[in-house]
Amino acid sequence: MSNSKWSGPKSSPSSPTSRGLSSCALVCLITLLAPTTPAQTPSDTYQSPDVFKTRQTPASASMPQTTSDAQIDKRVEELLREMTLEEKVGQLTQIFFLPMLNTAADERVRKGEIGSFLFVTDPAVINRLQRIAVQESRLKIPILFGFDVIHGFRTVFPVPLALASSFDPALIEKVQTIAAREAAAVGIKWTFAPMVDIARDARWGRVVEGAGEDPYLGSVIAAAQVRGFQGSNVADPDRLLACVKHLAGYGASEAGRDYDSANLSDSELHNVHLPPFKAAVDAGVGSVMSAYMNLNDVPATANSFLLQDTLRRDWGFRGFVVSDAFSVRDLVTHGFARDPADAAVRAFTAGLNMDMGSDTYTANLPQLVEQGRVAMSVVDNAVRAILAAKVRLGLFERPYVDEARAKQIQGTPEHRQAARVAAQRSAVLLRNEGDLLPLTKNDPAISSIAVIGPVANTGREMFGPWSLAGNPDEAITIVQGIRNKVGPKVKVEYARGGEVRRTYASIFEIFERGPKPAPLTPEQQDAELAAAVELARRSDIVVMALGEIQNMSGEVATRASINLPGRQQELLERVVATGKTTVLVLVNGRPLDISWAAEKVPAILEAWHPGIEGGNAIADLLFGDANPGGKLPVTFPRDVGQVPIYYALNRTQKPEDAPDFTSRYLDIPSSPLYPFGYGLSYTKFEIRNLRLEKPQIRLGETVEVQVEVENTGRRTGDEVVQLYIHQRAGSASRPVRELKGFERVTLAPSEKRTIRFRLGPGELRFWSTAERRWVQEDGDFDVWAGADSRASLHAVLKVTQ
Ligand code: NOJ
Repeated sequence: MSNSKWSGPKSSPSSPTSRGLSSCALVCLITLLAPTTPAQTPSDTYQSPDVFKTRQTPASASMPQTTSDAQIDKRVEELLREMTLEEKVGQLTQIFFLPMLNTAADERVRKGEIGSFLFVTDPAVINRLQRIAVQESRLKIPILFGFDVIHGFRTVFPVPLALASSFDPALIEKVQTIAAREAAAVGIKWTFAPMVDIARDARWGRVVEGAGEDPYLGSVIAAAQVRGFQGSNVADPDRLLACVKHLAGYGASEAGRDYDSANLSDSELHNVHLPPFKAAVDAGVGSVMSAYMNLNDVPATANSFLLQDTLRRDWGFRGFVVSDAFSVRDLVTHGFARDPADAAVRAFTAGLNMDMGSDTYTANLPQLVEQGRVAMSVVDNAVRAILAAKVRLGLFERPYVDEARAKQIQGTPEHRQAARVAAQRSAVLLRNEGDLLPLTKNDPAISSIAVIGPVANTGREMFGPWSLAGNPDEAITIVQGIRNKVGPKVKVEYARGGEVRRTYASIFEIFERGPKPAPLTPEQQDAELAAAVELARRSDIVVMALGEIQNMSGEVATRASINLPGRQQELLERVVATGKTTVLVLVNGRPLDISWAAEKVPAILEAWHPGIEGGNAIADLLFGDANPGGKLPVTFPRDVGQVPIYYALNRTQKPEDAPDFTSRYLDIPSSPLYPFGYGLSYTKFEIRNLRLEKPQIRLGETVEVQVEVENTGRRTGDEVVQLYIHQRAGSASRPVRELKGFERVTLAPSEKRTIRFRLGPGELRFWSTAERRWVQEDGDFDVWAGADSRASLHAVLKVTQ
């Protein structure tokens, strides 16, 4: 894998915005523009004649394509001229397709009432529905099939949080290229990814779907994913339309409770939560999904500040926006819209093109247009963006897929090999006392290995959430991976040691194959635990695999505790008490409180949900055929009481080290268990000689930063060199550190490399609450380079007027 280097997103500053002001201004403007009739209700004031029109179209915001804009426009206009209102609303409608529920679907497709389906994954069904659309509907407009291709399709890759741990955008781009190829082969041309919500609260289950806590890392990874899905030409049959989600602030839902309100300051919104979305738009993402929750009291699905002011006006986005599932209808549940008609008008006139799942547009938009509450020109603009995407994707030319080819493309050996490499590169070595790892293959002292733990031998746990098109039986479990690695001469025995269950079941369990076993009785749990301890006693070495089951992270997977669930902590303590050398492998989708293990277990490897080749990759890592080089994209707390916890916090007036009054906890250290950016290797690195090309620059100038890294150990390995900055004073307080560059390098023993970063306006600017705009300010900046967010190599950069 080639080295990847990232420094500074190439974005230009957005125009100044203020949530309160701009929303209000927009409403006032719309009120003035709206035609007044005596029958008007207050909701009419949301009407905007040009709500879906992009006012500026910077080149950076265009989706990659070969067909010219003029050709696309021509085709779209021709269609639009022919369309009835009902057919237009059909293009704004997406419904879930589950064969048992959709008996009326064929007829609706025939009548042109459905522009998009989600959740169809069978190429034969896709072709059948497409044939109805293309051959039997009046205007022959093809259907856009969407699906959550989040971390692979049939070839399931490590979960997104794991991929983010690789700090390797080139790898991530490649992963999504493969995912796109497999999904496109069955006829899915639209993925609801990347999910770029910044997450700093480990209780929130959807931490697993994003790139972690940091806006810089998140932005780089967002862009890499868009490139991976869409490629340089989205009309390529192997590519998909990407959909960046969930705009915006979903990761900040209160107390980590899924769907709950997010109350975000302007500074957090602009500096932390919006940048990855902006990066995706700059990379040409074709669509955007609105978030479920209230953002500062206005549901994101009907939030014109997000969908209009920010996305279209400031960023020049030209694609279309889809709601999250049922979120248009749920504007009523939110206590925001009076009734479904009000919900439709408010989502639509806020800038939401497509209604996912709820049919609220279908049921209400035609009447709203007839009543004059929504202008036909607004509907036309909303439809234009969707038709344009279908033209760009080449759906009119190639509506069908080759069903035989679709099968051949899935889960090929090359795709599985890529998944293995991805899992190797995503793992993070958290502890390795006395260089216990790597284990030696053919070690005469190891003739038996106990593999213990509820997540060690199941494909589902290798997959993690959002892997609905994968078959867990095709996954290599940790037990299988270790057996493959050590061969028949070493006895590898497995004991589950009890089971892990959610107290409240997940809706996603309906997708699980096979019968669901009854829960273990307490006596059965005791017996499994005892059997596992016994196995540890009679084995030479123990590999424990502990963590979370598949649906303990992802959507509807909020946890109040972030401990090892079930009786796994007890299992771990009892196994360690046998005195047997124990290695802990973590399989999970969020940071866990592993404080006990961090002191008592000599080696800990964070594997996350590692995907279809997870077991083989873990065995590669445990036995030294791969060297861990991943880093944490999220801070690991010592205790759930510390969340939200993240490295880029603001300094208080009484910092942790103040002598008397201090902001620290009275019962535990304030520091995390493992910091952001942290991860060990089987070799050692020295990072030294931090140099600024010049100590002083003027506002607007760029300086090169150099730092040297050397592998001083005895194995080839990877280091992620990280660059952090801190603006010492300014119009607003700035975080103590902010990541502004990183590079993952592979170095042989004694090999050195000079890493070059650039610090310029893109890295030094921030959104100032005091100024209510993006600013770059003069003053002193600390610059650090190192191997994690505690980096200590230091220099000072002066920025002058
Ligand atoms: C709801 C989820 O929030 C969203 O991320 C997903 O894409 C849709 N459902 C469709 O599955």
